[in-house]
Amino acid sequence: MEKKLKFNEILKGKRLILKSTKPDVNFAIKYFKVVDSNRQHLRPWMSWEKDVRSLEDALRYFFEKEKKTNNCEVVEYGIYCQDNYIGSISIFDIDLENKSGEVGYWLSANEAGKGYMTEALTIIEKEAFDNWQLNRIQLTCDPENKASVKVAKKCNYVLEGMKRQDFFCPYFKQFRDTLIFSKLRNKIS
Ligand SMILES: CC(C)(COP(=O)(O)OP(=O)(O)OC[C@H]1O[C@@H](n2cnc3c(N)ncnc32)[C@H](O)[C@@H]1OP(=O)(O)O)[C@@H](O)C(=O)NCCC(=O)NCCS
Repeated sequence: MEKKLKFNEILKGKRLILKSTKPDVNFAIKYFKVVDSNRQHLRPWMSWEKDVRSLEDALRYFFEKEKKTNNCEVVEYGIYCQDNYIGSISIFDIDLENKSGEVGYWLSANEAGKGYMTEALTIIEKEAFDNWQLNRIQLTCDPENKASVKVAKKCNYVLEGMKRQDFFCPYFKQFRDTLIFSKLRNKIS
């Protein structure tokens, strides 16, 4: 594999457009607005939600993320439907030697249940397997996050196992399990 990956700025699906996120004030304003109006929806499952308290926090996040993108450790796309920013999807912990990475995603509550994340995951994994030549994509989620488990299953991710009580979740105030799913480049299951 090449030492550097070339990330396309824009990826297109049937209904969605994914645009790589940048440390840009205008985008940070949109991002903060969507996060701020979806806190109840995100809080149980996205530990970073509480760290985004202001526009400054959002911008700082995008500057930090950009450094990692330049290092080929993470790539993140904003999800757009009819020009509206509705959430994000990223591949993080990219390991060029082992050709692997992990996917993370979230969507605005009023856009959930329309098949958008299934479409966004299909778009980004095609890019990761075909253009970045990754061999393995991991997807982890809480067993009670039924929508996320369903996305993994609809996209043919294989359940490898469950880490028992591997982290303490401040929202639930208890130790939680984590399901580990993965998909390989040349294997459907
Ligand atoms: C998880 C999330 C990204 C899913 O996005 P989405 O666009 O709604 O996903 P899709 O519509 O592609 O698929 C969701 C599926 O889960 C199903 N689903 C949703 N809630 C469910 C529930 N409580 N129980 C069972 N199934 C459920 C939907 O019906 C749909 O299945 P279907 O297409 O067979 O009807 C979105 O709910 C979200 O942003 N949640 C909060 C953040 C989060 O959890 N991120 C992932 C962390 S691992």
